[in-house]
Amino acid sequence: MAPVNVTVTGAAGQIGYALLFRIASGALLGPDTKVNLRLLEIPAAVKAAEGTAMELDDCAFPLLAGIEVTDDAKKAFDGANVALLVGARPRTKGMERGDLLEANGGIFKPQGEAINAGAASDIKVLVVGNPANTNALIAQQHAPDVPAGRFTAMTRLDHNRALSQLATKLGVTVEDIKKLTIWGNHSATQYPDVFHAEVNGKNAAELVNDEAWLADSFIPTVAKRGAAIIEARGASSAASAANAAIDHVHDWVLGTPAGDWTSMAIPSDGSYGVPEGIISSFPVTCADGEYSIVQGLEVNEFSRARIDASVAELVEERDAVKGLGLI
Ligand code: NAI
Repeated sequence: MAPVNVTVTGAAGQIGYALLFRIASGALLGPDTKVNLRLLEIPAAVKAAEGTAMELDDCAFPLLAGIEVTDDAKKAFDGANVALLVGARPRTKGMERGDLLEANGGIFKPQGEAINAGAASDIKVLVVGNPANTNALIAQQHAPDVPAGRFTAMTRLDHNRALSQLATKLGVTVEDIKKLTIWGNHSATQYPDVFHAEVNGKNAAELVNDEAWLADSFIPTVAKRGAAIIEARGASSAASAANAAIDHVHDWVLGTPAGDWTSMAIPSDGSYGVPEGIISSFPVTCADGEYSIVQGLEVNEFSRARIDASVAELVEERDAVKGLGLI
């Protein structure tokens, strides 16, 4: 089998450093798939990315068929089968939302165009760089020849954080928990939903039996975990974000386990009242390289209000990038 071309942007950043070695070791696509890595950086960081490439060489990973480092998006995405868009413009002090969206538009528009121009026909895109959902929408809108559903954004870190918090609360292991969902935006408005989650076959919300804990502790802890990590570590989550990116693509390509689902931000088809086209997190199962939204879940009042609030934020972000002429 020919190696799979995996493009990673922001390769010299801290997530890149935690991500690339795991991709090359087989964690992304399994132990039988060789990969070609394409590392895209801005010119000022190409040298650092080349340093990382030297270290990748020095690992002598049997599955790593080749590495290319470039600052040219066209080259980086040419023939790409998987693209992990990690590099983004962070919000700096005093930056208005419009400026942030505009700066990211300047990154994700040309990258969408380059994916449109040259990526392989089976391209799968995961956007990690924030604001991830809206950056994914910008890239998607500039890749009209690529099926819209191939553009996804990462809420898997939120999903994994929620699994860990719930496991601690109930004194079980993360493996005991199935069918947890993150809905909406990868932001403070996200909604981690345990009402359909199962713990060794029992309903998680019933086991918790404490709506105040859900509202006042669990949900804010998951949603604000990124800030808590920055506070503790003095730097934003990197290894856990890289791990979540691996999980997202791994499950998309290789499937979700039977009897479980995961969370991915994907273009809405209108399910659960989320306006069509918005890139919002849903419960999904994956098989044969395709994801599908889990249908037919009952959404109670507690969940409805929170899903609606996060989706409203996504609609606002979409309207803002539209207003700025970015889509
Ligand atoms: P970082 O600042 O360490 O690295 C970002 C890298 O992107 C830098 O090396 C920079 O040179 C590069 N870059 C900037 N513009 C680029 C462009 N146009 N093309 C290629 N590379 C470019 O940041 P870190 O910690 O690696 O985080 C990356 C992004 O991931 C941030 O936007 C962060 O907010 C986001 N993130 C998302 C999470 C999620 O759950 N969706 C979780 C954690 C972080």
